[in-house]
Amino acid sequence: MGQANLFPNLRDADWQWGGTPEQIEQTIRNGRLAVMVSWQALLNDEGVENMAAYVMSLSGSPDTNHPGKGQYDMFCIACHGPNGDDNPLLGAPKLNDDTWLYQGDLESIKESIAVGRNGQMPAFNETLDDVQIKLLTAWLSQ
Ligand code: HEC
Repeated sequence: MGQANLFPNLRDADWQWGGTPEQIEQTIRNGRLAVMVSWQALLNDEGVENMAAYVMSLSGSPDTNHPGKGQYDMFCIACHGPNGDDNPLLGAPKLNDDTWLYQGDLESIKESIAVGRNGQMPAFNETLDDVQIKLLTAWLSQ
């Protein structure tokens, strides 16, 4: 909770790119670029609407007969898994915990799907020295 739009909460146990000290250090050093493409052309308006509704249901009790499920299973599970679990290797966030990088209302989820999202974390390799990076990593890993 407490995610102010685009900036993830660093005080919970939910890590988009993995929460081990090694993964956190990697994130700080090299930055991260999330690739979630636009699905508008493939799904069209009705498909985006159905998909957003299905994605919202993943946080509660997913309806296995939902009209969005077929396309979800086809296009989304490679990164988001069959149940909306996260994939830290790709930076794919959980879609089933009602915690959102880009808000969890229907319109925002539709926008995530239709337009795509490319969240970016800058690299700090040049700005911070090794000691600073180690200290930050240790502090964030607690
Ligand atoms: C190639 C991997 C990949 C595929 C395939 C993919 N996504 Fe994503 N998705 C991501 C990544 C990475 C992010 C995080 C984007 C960011 O941090 O800016 C994301 C973010 C999202 C979000 C925003 C989540 C939030 O917390 O606000 C939604 C909703 C979403 N995806 C739904 C879908 C749906 C529906 C599909 C299938 C049509 C899909 N994704 C297919 C990688 C993928």
